[in-house]
Amino acid sequence: MENNSQYVDSLNALLNDSTAEEIIAHFLKEYGSRFCFGTSLGAEDQVITYMLSQSGLPFDIFTLDTGRLFPETYDLIDRTNAKYRIKIKTMFPDYGEVENMVNEHGINLFYKSIDLRKQCCQIRKLNPLKRALEGKAGWFTGLRRSQSVTRTDMQIVEWDANSAMFKVNPLINWSEEDVWNYIHQNKIPYNPLHDKGFPSIGCQPCTRAIEKGEDLRAGRWWWENPDTKECGLHAKK
Ligand code: ADX
Ligand code: SF4
Repeated sequence: MENNSQYVDSLNALLNDSTAEEIIAHFLKEYGSRFCFGTSLGAEDQVITYMLSQSGLPFDIFTLDTGRLFPETYDLIDRTNAKYRIKIKTMFPDYGEVENMVNEHGINLFYKSIDLRKQCCQIRKLNPLKRALEGKAGWFTGLRRSQSVTRTDMQIVEWDANSAMFKVNPLINWSEEDVWNYIHQNKIPYNPLHDKGFPSIGCQPCTRAIEKGEDLRAGRWWWENPDTKECGLHAKK
């Protein structure tokens, strides 16, 4: 039943006019701790963490620590945990896989080819994500449609065929302005890099600041073509 596309369509119809808070509450009530949230500590994710912490419902939250994050991101993990009295679970990559990869291809292998970049994302993000999602019915993400050409046809509820579970995007219809208004209104802690030209923040060596007028994700894997710039967490199936 759950992987039936008609069922996903009916959920999207049901939740079409719901607020992000209502979407989150719907899945937490239905699935409890079998639903979780993956946060990169980006602006959208900070909004969702706030909504979860205000929901009054128990929730499960994790982050994928690739080992290559910005110091500002690590600080924000601590600040967020302290402010909302939560414990963001940190998922690390397998050390053996990282050692083999780095010893074979070098620490900054991602600049050498798209294949090596994907290998790094696989080992540092996708394999730990798989462990984080084991036994879950679904996960929330902070994806927004207007973030990228690769995200324009995403829905509130999607069926993630790779991991055979729901992926729920409560902010899918939000604009960047909506995100920032919400952050300021609710005094939500955010990454100071956002004020220094980094709208989208991933790993340090693969993220740069953008110029005025550039696409929001232009600073991610900036040496690659915009149509292929997904690390695999949200690649189209
Ligand atoms: S990425 O695929 O390019 O890295 P992006 O940074 O836009 O993704 O984030 C999109 C969503 O993926 C986030 O809102 C979050 O839900 C999830 N996500 C991305 N990076 C991480 C991470 N390091 N840990 C947990 N979730 C993440
Ligand atoms: Fe590796 Fe860069 Fe992917 Fe991070 S974003 S996992 S450093 S290739």
